[in-house]
Amino acid sequence: MTKPLNVGTIGYGFMGKAHSNAYAKVNHFFDLQYRPILKAICARSADKAKAFAENWGYESIEIDWRKLVERKDIDLIDICTPNNTHAEIAIAAAKTGKMILCEKPLAMNGPEGLRMVETVEKAKVPNMVWYNYRRVPAVTLAKQLIDEGRLGRIFHYRAKFLQDWTINPELPQGGTALWRLDAATAGSGVTGDLLAHCIDTALWLNGRLDSVNAMTETFVKERKHNLTGKVEKVGIDDAAIFMGRFHNGSLASFESTRYARGHKALYTFEINGEHASIFWDLHDLHRLQYFDHRDQGIVRGWRSIHVTDGDHPYMGNWWVPGLQIGYEHSFVHQVADFLKGLETGKPAMPDFRDAYRTQLVLDAILDSAKNGRWVQVGQG
Ligand SMILES: NC(=O)c1ccc[n+]([C@@H]2O[C@H](COP(=O)([O-])OP(=O)(O)OC[C@H]3O[C@@H](n4cnc5c(N)ncnc54)[C@H](O)[C@@H]3O)[C@@H](O)[C@H]2O)c1
Repeated sequence: MTKPLNVGTIGYGFMGKAHSNAYAKVNHFFDLQYRPILKAICARSADKAKAFAENWGYESIEIDWRKLVERKDIDLIDICTPNNTHAEIAIAAAKTGKMILCEKPLAMNGPEGLRMVETVEKAKVPNMVWYNYRRVPAVTLAKQLIDEGRLGRIFHYRAKFLQDWTINPELPQGGTALWRLDAATAGSGVTGDLLAHCIDTALWLNGRLDSVNAMTETFVKERKHNLTGKVEKVGIDDAAIFMGRFHNGSLASFESTRYARGHKALYTFEINGEHASIFWDLHDLHRLQYFDHRDQGIVRGWRSIHVTDGDHPYMGNWWVPGLQIGYEHSFVHQVADFLKGLETGKPAMPDFRDAYRTQLVLDAILDSAKNGRWVQVGQG
């Protein structure tokens, strides 16, 4: 017998769908004590919420997230709304004793993130942030190989997240679908949106970052604002590049942009160690490239591991070896790990505190870029 866990999801956009899909599938593929029930979807438009509820099987709708948070029949609040709403919703939800899953980045900035961490810790409510790339099986395998010591001492960590969708200067900022270009809603541009993912993965795989030196650029300085109808200054960073030092002595080199013509979501990382190197590419997410210098010379070379075997992370729960899974499965894995954490009392990461550490790196990057100097990263 599974125990029902009533979910109230806020926001029916990209992430609202990705999470609803994960809740619907997780118990079919993972053996778990808890079973998420799609209890309520919350959106500001009743018609849209109803249509979403019908399509995804939610039992009810709310048009005000405050009402959802107060409901006695909801166990878990899932925040799938733009960044400027995360703190207010999460803090209210923690105060009513709800479990909280929050989209990334945790907050608009470090101080806001800290308030969220303190509130959930005081309320002792289970919490997690959707840095889903940790749960792509090839990325989880990278973690396993590093933890086994196969790479030896790490020298370099290199990551990129490249897109090209905001090059057109006529693209407005703000409102539906374009809130990412509005600093008041997003907090920052590519730093909080794309680099945040690269940093979460990096801190997980390679440990803490001590210091950073960054530059950012806003290529299009003014855009029409969809909410005011006026041409307004653009407050987000369109591109961000930083170098840094990890605590383990390795060097960091990171780049993210929405101005790399031809790239849609090219998230890659490469780690070079004393014995071996690893490379991963989101466009080819089921493969992990691995080079081991200890192989016999005549057959030494980069191998492309097709991460689909039953002994690869998560893959024993899916199809037969050789058949790959995709982007959406990383969210299914994250829900599975969260529910397993409730079962075992060993919480799944990243929790709010862990995600706050990423937030502190984001703050350090923006500070460095603004003031043109090296910045020590705060440690949470
Ligand atoms: N983990 C990931 O890979 C990933 C990917 C995309 C987005 N995100 C994050 O997820 C969050 C949402 O992004 P998205 O791409 O789904 O955005 P989106 O624009 O597709 O959807 C946002 C939703 O929030 C709703 N909304 C906004 N304000 C609201 C309010 N006050 N009350 C109720 N609903 C409200 C909108 O109507 C919309 O349904 C952001 O924090 C973003 O950074 C994470």
